[in-house]
Amino acid sequence: MFKRKKITVIGAGATGATTAHVMALKEMGDIVLVDVAEGIPEGKALDIWEAGPIERFSLKVSGSNSYEATRDSDVIVVTAGMPRKPGMSRDDLLKVNADIVYQVVEKAAKLSPEALLVVLSNPADVMAYVAQKASGFPYHRVIGQAGVLDSARFRTFLADALNVSPKDVTAFVMGGHGDDMVPLVRYSSVAGIPIEKLLPADTIEKIVQRTRTGGGEVLNLMKISAFYAPASSLAEMVQAMLKDERRVIPVISYLDGEYGEHDIFVGVPAIVGGNGIEKVLEVEFTDSERAAFAKSVASVRKPLSMLNY
Ligand code: APR
Repeated sequence: MFKRKKITVIGAGATGATTAHVMALKEMGDIVLVDVAEGIPEGKALDIWEAGPIERFSLKVSGSNSYEATRDSDVIVVTAGMPRKPGMSRDDLLKVNADIVYQVVEKAAKLSPEALLVVLSNPADVMAYVAQKASGFPYHRVIGQAGVLDSARFRTFLADALNVSPKDVTAFVMGGHGDDMVPLVRYSSVAGIPIEKLLPADTIEKIVQRTRTGGGEVLNLMKISAFYAPASSLAEMVQAMLKDERRVIPVISYLDGEYGEHDIFVGVPAIVGGNGIEKVLEVEFTDSERAAFAKSVASVRKPLSMLNY
């Protein structure tokens, strides 16, 4: 007997609810939204569900404050977290969000011991580590989101500069978000043509810089964090797993010797399928790419060392 897939989204805020919406539109499975806020997960879920007859999706979207509703999920997406408040340092926020992620994952993982975990809460590389500890899940079943969004931004700007469809633009971004991001220009192409053959170096450099500050650009404009493209990124990762697509995408994965690193979650290209991370792909680096990746790894190790997980 076939059974519909079940996806839990923890955190029914801007990103969580939008992810649920995108996944419903793509008919990826029944969706459960969970949040501490009263009425919000139920209300947003109902609102999304009621679009079903128009959008023609045959699935249920529900919301709850209780984890019981998440039992036997195939995938758990973690978007719960706090925005930075005035007077709060980055380190304070890190501890607050790590506590939230640990608590929510511990509860959800017990009820869905076979699930795949997808982590977005910021900083996602650190929170993926926390989520793995809280769940006790095998490393390949814990995966963080950063690179899909960063490379989508990179591809959007490249496609725009070339006036071509973003569908034909492939771009790889490794490492962390922001300044530590490692956009791999050499591995980026348009229908197989290296972008270095299509665009002048200074245009590429400007696009790389814009990609690095892509989150900040949106934040400055609307005064809250980006959530539409992050939601699409999460949905793409969930689909890769639920449909066992074996997509080759940049994701936050545990490294056990790959790239010479151990005991860390960081952004790398990987094959993503029904088991979560099927394989981390190791690409050759130039010296400057290697240095940038090392810097990125260091920027994940520092906050991790402050958290003691
Ligand atoms: N359990 C469940 N939900 C929680 C908890 C908790 N312990 N703590 C907070 N939340 C919920 C909030 O109630 C809120 O609805 O997480 C949601 C976060 O939503 P937003 O504030 O809208 O944030 P969003 O833009 O969706 O970002 C999600 O990504 O950028 C990061 O720091 C941000 O970690 C946050 C995540």
